[in-house]
Amino acid sequence: MIAIGSDHGGYLLKQAVMKHLDERGIEYKDFGCYSDASCDYPDYARPVANAVVGGECEFGILICGTGIGISIAANKIKGVRAALCTDCFCAEATRLHNNANILALGGRVVGDGLALKIVDTFLDTPFSAEERHIRRINKIED
Ligand code: RB5
Repeated sequence: MIAIGSDHGGYLLKQAVMKHLDERGIEYKDFGCYSDASCDYPDYARPVANAVVGGECEFGILICGTGIGISIAANKIKGVRAALCTDCFCAEATRLHNNANILALGGRVVGDGLALKIVDTFLDTPFSAEERHIRRINKIED
């Protein structure tokens, strides 16, 4: 189960991501927003982050205009490793190296085509589980 959320700046891309997840048969829970009316990204970062760290959802996807504000907000929640990705290299690396549990995207930064490739790369790449990466992640959590 994927937790997904956005503010108004990410609303349209969120619709495209959810359609893509539907096509892939991947279940998700949409935490809003539910229109393109102006709203506040922390209000959507928090419930998605809590769903991930609480174990209700395996991964989260958060989208705002840039992906910056919503990733900053999510990373305030203990146990969250939210990674803002603008390309597939970073999406792959953050799963392999950081075991990122939330993907952040900028709806005003990346087009739908690239964003969906980033989503696929993020969701399909396992954590490397190499000792040096585990050690570094543990240092973040301490
Ligand atoms: C909203 O205008 C915009 O500030 C927000 O979507 C995001 O880009 C903030 O980081």
